[in-house]
Amino acid sequence: MRLLVTGGAGYIGGAVARRLRAAGHEVVIVDDLSTGHREAAAGFDLVVGDFADEALVGDLCARRRIEGVVHMAAHCLVGESMERPADYYENNVTRSLALLRVAARSGARTFVFSSSAAVYGEPEATPIPETHPTRPTNPYGETKLVFERALHWHAAPLGLAAVSLRYFNAAGAADDGTHGERHDPETHLVPNVLRAASCGEPVAVFGDDYPTPDGTAIRDYIHIEDLAEAHRLALERGAVPGRAASYNLGNGGGFSVLEVIEAARRVTGRPIPVRRAPRRAGDPAALVASADRARLELGWTPRHAALEEIIDSAWRHERSRR
Ligand SMILES: NC(=O)c1ccc[n+]([C@@H]2O[C@H](COP(=O)([O-])OP(=O)(O)OC[C@H]3O[C@@H](n4cnc5c(N)ncnc54)[C@H](O)[C@@H]3O)[C@@H](O)[C@H]2O)c1
Repeated sequence: MRLLVTGGAGYIGGAVARRLRAAGHEVVIVDDLSTGHREAAAGFDLVVGDFADEALVGDLCARRRIEGVVHMAAHCLVGESMERPADYYENNVTRSLALLRVAARSGARTFVFSSSAAVYGEPEATPIPETHPTRPTNPYGETKLVFERALHWHAAPLGLAAVSLRYFNAAGAADDGTHGERHDPETHLVPNVLRAASCGEPVAVFGDDYPTPDGTAIRDYIHIEDLAEAHRLALERGAVPGRAASYNLGNGGGFSVLEVIEAARRVTGRPIPVRRAPRRAGDPAALVASADRARLELGWTPRHAALEEIIDSAWRHERSRR
């Protein structure tokens, strides 16, 4: 399929673009490099610009006869979304609608969207199935949900095949170590733990009074190579014209913050000092996916589920940068 990939110079986008190309799809990346890196899209056809630039994207879709869009570009920091909600609505909803309109007008009828576990908010039960109530506790999650709903309402009238992939906590680096996480600021646990392993600066543990066995928050870590494969399957098996579907992407098992740090000590052989800090607003105690729907309908099976394997790949990437 001829694909427009937004956010392909980002962390997850870089891995997804590589996987789609390896599977025989033709990939053109649009990324404004606001949080992404040109090197992440090295070797790809990269157009630097805003995915909502109607002239740019309309022309690109027409010239390249784009058939589908994989929309991963977004603002994606929970804390920042609490401080600048309008920016999140603008990029993740208003501009994303502009992209949908332009792509559909030029004939692209398949749309795969990066959604998030943040659409659920505080879970009533774990593991969380897609049928769980969606009550986001921050503007980031809300904007992801709003755009999912927009895809739902556009599917039938446009004959759109829409798939929303609700990632849990993306982690790890590409199998060959060439591509990994480089956010600035970095808010994700695994790269911050590995930075602490490298530099000896303590890593912050936000909250140790959650109702979990060791008091720290539990998350479901999913390797970016497994996320990448899910995008291929979403395009090839999940996209049905006139239908909008949502799939959770996680391993179905959770690890606490302290368990992640302990695993990182084993992988790196370094002490990794810890600094206790208060809970962050809006952080639920536990977020663990039920990914049964993706397994059953897409035939998706995560291949890198072991926490130590995920951390090891991220550690190889971290060391290659220093
Ligand atoms: N990292 C995670 O754990 C996680 C979890 C759930 C969902 N997600 C979602 O996955 C997607 C990718 O996340 P990531 O961690 O790779 O983030 P990232 O910041 O590395 O990638 C986002 C990319 O989008 C680009 N971008 C942003 N706004 C743009 C615009 N208007 N026009 C063109 N390009 C633009 C950035 O330059 C960047 O390259 C996001 O949609 C995010 O909400 C991520």
